[in-house]
Amino acid sequence: MISSFPLMRTASPVPDDQRAAILDAPGFGLHFTDHMAFADWTAEAGWHDRRVQALQPFSVHPGAAVLHYAQEIFEGLKAYRHADGSVWLFRPEINAQRFRRSAERMRLPQLPEQDFLASIEALVRADKPWVPVAAGERSLYLRPFMFAAEAFLGVRPSRRVVYSVIACPSQPYFAPGGVSLWVSTSYTRAAAGGTGAAKCGGNYAASLAAQAEAERHGCDQVLYLDGATEEACIEESGAMNLFLVTARGELVTPALGTILAGVTRDTVLTLASELGLTPVERAVPLAELRAGLADGTVTEVFAAGTAAVITPVTGIKAEGYAFTIGGGEPGKVTSALRELILNIQYGRVADTHGWLRHV
Ligand code: COI
Repeated sequence: MISSFPLMRTASPVPDDQRAAILDAPGFGLHFTDHMAFADWTAEAGWHDRRVQALQPFSVHPGAAVLHYAQEIFEGLKAYRHADGSVWLFRPEINAQRFRRSAERMRLPQLPEQDFLASIEALVRADKPWVPVAAGERSLYLRPFMFAAEAFLGVRPSRRVVYSVIACPSQPYFAPGGVSLWVSTSYTRAAAGGTGAAKCGGNYAASLAAQAEAERHGCDQVLYLDGATEEACIEESGAMNLFLVTARGELVTPALGTILAGVTRDTVLTLASELGLTPVERAVPLAELRAGLADGTVTEVFAAGTAAVITPVTGIKAEGYAFTIGGGEPGKVTSALRELILNIQYGRVADTHGWLRHV
């Protein structure tokens, strides 16, 4: 098949021994592969100049709208190497669709789903040696993004936009032991009608002050509330969605609206019933979580995201109270779901849902 993103191979790839050393201990988001995908959009010409080229800096005018008004969106997905050496993507169509929804919210142009998929596949093919072996849950993290590149200081949608995909060999974002969450009542992430459901950079910039607050309280991440003063409901944790396991065998997660429609979230909801759990999407009042942790009807809490995979929540702390969950150890359901998702992604069990896409 002729890719619509032709490869212009780099003349100076990272030497094999250096790449091997990086793949041994990649960390997260620290090391970039040899290539990047690229496409340009103008209001006059639409999408053009699609290609995969050597990783290189952009030349961005100081007046580019993204630098002033943050008209920008991104995605996150991974390529997994199976034991036989083959390389696979996990549900990339869902990322393509969410990218389109984010673009719509931020008044960026729509990238056709086939371009999204072709750009990712072309980049993964070009940088296949960068996809780590499965050991230690390593994978190639792919970061598609789009930004307003027109030099213009008026507030209106940019008439020039750049789309790109970069890639980083990666390990899980969080330590497998789990994270503690700080319930912030000083910061919210989103409100109805806001940008909470869009994957835009501004949401993450705005999370940094809340994250600093969590760290001041000795916690790893923030648990956001919906901002209502009475009956505040839990939302998400910034870089991941949240799930509660109940003693009645329910898997409860906040309903969509102001939170990100996570690919892992959707995967967990689908797999829940296969593990004999009842998936429930609804508003979850903080008071209910607090009562459930106190009386043991909430037995486990975990977070789900592409970067986070499934990360156990081992503690929740708020102004005036704190809970250790499961004695600080990952719970049974959390561990079973985590295992099952990783087994599907790494091809260790049959992909009965047709979620994997060969590259
Ligand atoms: C992802 O899971 O891909 C994320 O968006 C988390 C990232 C901000 C580190």
